[in-house]
Amino acid sequence: MTPLLFTPLTIRGLTLSNRIVISPMAQYSAVDGIANDWHLVQYGRFAVGGAGVVTLEATAVTRVGRITNGDVGLWSDAHIAPLARIAAFLKANGAVPSIQLAHAGRKGSSQRPWHGNGPLVQADIDRGDELWTPVAPSAEPLGEGWLCPTALDDDGVLSLRDAFVTAAHRALAAGFEICEIHAAHGYMLHQFLSPIANRRNDRWGGDAERRRALPLEIARAIRAVWPAERPVFLRLSMVDGSEGGLTEADQVAFSAALKAVGVDMVVASSGGMAGSATNQRGPNRVYGFQVPFAERIKREAGIATMAVGLIVDGRQAEAILQEGRADLIAVGRAALEDPNWALHAKAALGVDTRHETWPEQHGWWMTQRDRVLERLGPWQP
Ligand SMILES: Cc1cc2nc3c(=O)[nH]c(=O)nc-3n(C[C@H](O)[C@H](O)[C@H](O)COP(=O)(O)O)c2cc1C
Repeated sequence: MTPLLFTPLTIRGLTLSNRIVISPMAQYSAVDGIANDWHLVQYGRFAVGGAGVVTLEATAVTRVGRITNGDVGLWSDAHIAPLARIAAFLKANGAVPSIQLAHAGRKGSSQRPWHGNGPLVQADIDRGDELWTPVAPSAEPLGEGWLCPTALDDDGVLSLRDAFVTAAHRALAAGFEICEIHAAHGYMLHQFLSPIANRRNDRWGGDAERRRALPLEIARAIRAVWPAERPVFLRLSMVDGSEGGLTEADQVAFSAALKAVGVDMVVASSGGMAGSATNQRGPNRVYGFQVPFAERIKREAGIATMAVGLIVDGRQAEAILQEGRADLIAVGRAALEDPNWALHAKAALGVDTRHETWPEQHGWWMTQRDRVLERLGPWQP
């Protein structure tokens, strides 16, 4: 019997060849938001490596919505063509092209992670980075030493919604088939959701329902322009990872509301409201540490979910699906380690034992080599 991980899944009118999704992973390697050859190779190798879906990194819907100077963007038509080249390559190699639309909010104007992951400093400016004042729901800096963002007024909030919608139009023009809205990891839409960053008292803040209003409005607006046969996903942080933040129950209620506006899948991540983008530290860091979030949302909000976070082995991924805890499996760093992760998962699950489903440019040769290696036995030093 075919493992669930390699059973195609149809969402709306789109069929994924398997249930492995490459998680969005920002490369911070664009200039003025324009994707380049690094991005083509970075994403292309995951399609060649057999993933069902490849998700492009957090893509800024406005220039001030970048996290760093190196973020990919979609704030102008000039951004479309290089992304279209990537989407076409992914499709031609069997993967569904997906893109994550994002706005950094108060986390804008940050350093690239490898330069310190903090606010920009003189050394970054000397390297050629530009500094800008971020915008956010409230004039609440991320922490000490961070720039104080400008709070958006009502028109600013509506323009933010429009920027997401315009970026979605451009993503469509570039050929993407899944649109993922980034509402996690302490970035703008998460900031609207969380009482820690949203201190407003208008239609966009105050109680939980009003804090949800903008992310829901954006989901509804994107759903209205994204073709009915193509899915819309949304990534959320199940918990803020800080005192006094969102609760799991809040995010279950948000997920139910997302379902009602036509979002097809919730990606269950966590953390990022203060400090680093993802909540990778802490005592509970175990394999599949966010799977319980995907499971809870699926069960209580009745919406399909994607599990992500330290899913490292095909058998582990298959068990998550078999146990009905999630519908799709996202793989991030394990795919950086091994871009052929999906093909290797096929081998681990007995679907492809002799490279027979590898890309034809490689597979035939590898099958010949497998026969030789079987005769030779393992290499001994
Ligand atoms: C280099 C890198 C960049 C990332 N960029 C993004 C991003 O753009 N958007 C996002 O939602 N998550 C981002 N993440 C988080 C991953 O998508 C994923 O949720 C996280 O790494 C946990 O999954 P893993 O254990 O499979 O890596 C990034 C992670 C890494 C390692």
